[in-house]
Amino acid sequence: MSIVYLNGQFLPLLDARISVLDRGFLFADGVYEVIPAYNGKLFRLEHHLERLDNSMRGIHLSNPLSNAQWSDVLNALVERNGGGNISVYLHVTRGADEKRDHLYSASTEQTIFVMTTPIKPVSAHLLEQGAKLIVLDDIRWQHCNLKTIALLPNVMLRNQAHAAGADEAILVRDGYATEATVSNFFVVKDGVVLTPPKSEFLLPGITRDLVLELARDHGMPCEETSIGREMLYDADEIWITSSTKEVVAATRLDGEYVGDGLPGPMWKLMLRYYQEYKMQLKN
Ligand code: PDD
Repeated sequence: MSIVYLNGQFLPLLDARISVLDRGFLFADGVYEVIPAYNGKLFRLEHHLERLDNSMRGIHLSNPLSNAQWSDVLNALVERNGGGNISVYLHVTRGADEKRDHLYSASTEQTIFVMTTPIKPVSAHLLEQGAKLIVLDDIRWQHCNLKTIALLPNVMLRNQAHAAGADEAILVRDGYATEATVSNFFVVKDGVVLTPPKSEFLLPGITRDLVLELARDHGMPCEETSIGREMLYDADEIWITSSTKEVVAATRLDGEYVGDGLPGPMWKLMLRYYQEYKMQLKN
């Protein structure tokens, strides 16, 4: 059974217990991160820890651990779970009060929970055929840049996409696409890679940033710019990105072909750059 970390202790998953008064349970009052490890080595750890710190500051929750302490805990957990390719789920809540109260006190001790899951490689079918997307209204709040555990809107939208036979939904707010329910997105038009600029309406994805970095390093034209709903339907390629799926091409949007209906040449290049980058870090 997998070993998890809870408030200073390493223990089997089924032995991990928290109070029903935990504010994470009662109010979704907390933040999280998902960090992949390849060959037992945490990928872009410092970027994830910086975003974690930013999410905590955004909800006025003090960071219980220094980056060095986080690194020790996470690396120890990866090792205890056998290393390899696993993703680390890290979760910090405002802890348990003595009663249910919307008002929080500064003295409550945070709950820190970390677990791991094996990374399932993206299926050959998805790589060859590409993902199916639909477009949905972005019904979320105004702080989507914070990675909080209040994910009910994302859960509803993700399930709406699934019920419609799609793999993911691109979300549109006030006429502009923000991101997807569990990923960021890119479009390619006339050889230029485009993604919306960072704002309070989308999560600053670590994979998104790496894709932009790789595009720039390899001289692939790219731009951060607002993407109107109609640009989605006019795209030559669409990609979705996340720490667990990396970069996946989308070939259907609301049932219509994206480009010629097959994963495009720019995506193939980017996937190669991404894999090369991963390999280089492993050695
Ligand atoms: N989700 N946007 C949303 C809403 C997300 O939930 C995620 C990731 C991303 C991509 O971020 P990154 O590249 O840092 O993984 C964008 C994770 C994987 C999850 O909730 O499981």
